[in-house]
Amino acid sequence: MRVRINPSILAADFANFERELGRIATADLVHVDIMDNHFVPNLTFGPTMTERLQELSAIPLDVHLMIDDPDRWAPGYAELGAYSVTFHAEAAKDAVSLARRLRDIGARAGIALKPGTPVEPFLDLLPEFDQVLVMTVEPGFGGQSFMAETMPKLGLLREAVTKSGLDVWLQVDGGITADTIVIAAEAGADTFVAGSSVFRGEPADNIASLRAAAEAHVH
Ligand code: DX5
Ligand code: ZN
Repeated sequence: MRVRINPSILAADFANFERELGRIATADLVHVDIMDNHFVPNLTFGPTMTERLQELSAIPLDVHLMIDDPDRWAPGYAELGAYSVTFHAEAAKDAVSLARRLRDIGARAGIALKPGTPVEPFLDLLPEFDQVLVMTVEPGFGGQSFMAETMPKLGLLREAVTKSGLDVWLQVDGGITADTIVIAAEAGADTFVAGSSVFRGEPADNIASLRAAAEAHVH
């Protein structure tokens, strides 16, 4: 199975995004963390900056919305051309309708689950989504430690995706390193977000190490 390595530009130099995008050219997608200071206690940027990143980036955008009221704001990110738009289950009023709108606009639709949010209610809804993001830290900040207790959710998702034959990507985000990526790949993930472990040091080398570790352990 193909693995995807998506560096999170939350760990990049915010004053040099053009240069930073150049350092991650061997990645699959660029993970763009949108935080609103309400859904999470941190603030990044919004659609204007995302649109500029879209213009500058050679690889597609994987937008992760950590915001309240995604029903209102998420379609705008699909309209500006993001390849994938993922919103939080805990914040959405009508996740299925929102995912359908994102797909109608032409984006892949993703749903994200915080560490404490159970996966069971979403297993029957898999046909509505192109990606499920299992958060492996509490959303809001980079540089936190991987929470292995979230792995059973991935196991259930992998089983359901395999049974269904659907092309749903299973993403993990938070505390992913060359060590923890092995745990997540073995549990069933195929799409890996990494911030600190990509941008600390030489991103191309780090992406290559993460990819090799994931490929050796993915199902
Ligand atoms: C956290 C963000 C992550 C973050 C991951 O809320 O959603 O994408 O950038 O950072 P690391 O890889 O440093 O844990
Ligand atoms: Zn993220």
